[in-house]
Amino acid sequence: MTTAIYPGSFDPLTNGHLDIVERCVRLFDRVVIAILTNSQKTPLFSADERKAIVREVLTPQFPRVEIEIEVFHGLLVDYAQRKNAQVIVRGIRAVTDYEYELQMALMNRRLAPAIETVFMMPAEHYSYLSSRLVKEISGHGGSVSGLVPDLVEKRLKQKFETQS
Ligand code: PNS
Repeated sequence: MTTAIYPGSFDPLTNGHLDIVERCVRLFDRVVIAILTNSQKTPLFSADERKAIVREVLTPQFPRVEIEIEVFHGLLVDYAQRKNAQVIVRGIRAVTDYEYELQMALMNRRLAPAIETVFMMPAEHYSYLSSRLVKEISGHGGSVSGLVPDLVEKRLKQKFETQS
């Protein structure tokens, strides 16, 4: 039984993230989506809001798959060990992601040598998609249709309406 952790900020969930989840469930017996704190980022959505969105989108899409969604504050490797995970999954879109991802993967390996990081590539048409750009576009009133699930588009509009 192989357990994979797919960690990230998911602020918010995009179709690129969903593409990676789809690939994970084909490969691993158990997939844990961990919504973690990234000290480099100030999130738009609270951790609980992000978790609610991920749950609402994923539950109907992957009904027979064991997916757990948890919010965790602390080191990713500690969380992975607690979950008995053998694998950490990270999506890589372009070569620009590689340096940061390699650094994290090697640091995580140093902290927990038994856990392997696996990089996955989303479909090419998501290679330019990021949560950051989605927030920027939506914040300026642009359309993010086709880039994020409908629910996320709705929540983004609500969030920016309440902020203005
Ligand atoms: O979606 P993101 O923001 O690129 O995800 C980054 C994340 C949350 C996976 C990373 O910042 C992380 O692992 N945070 C938890 C704290 C930790 O373990 N830091 C050391 C990483 S080597």
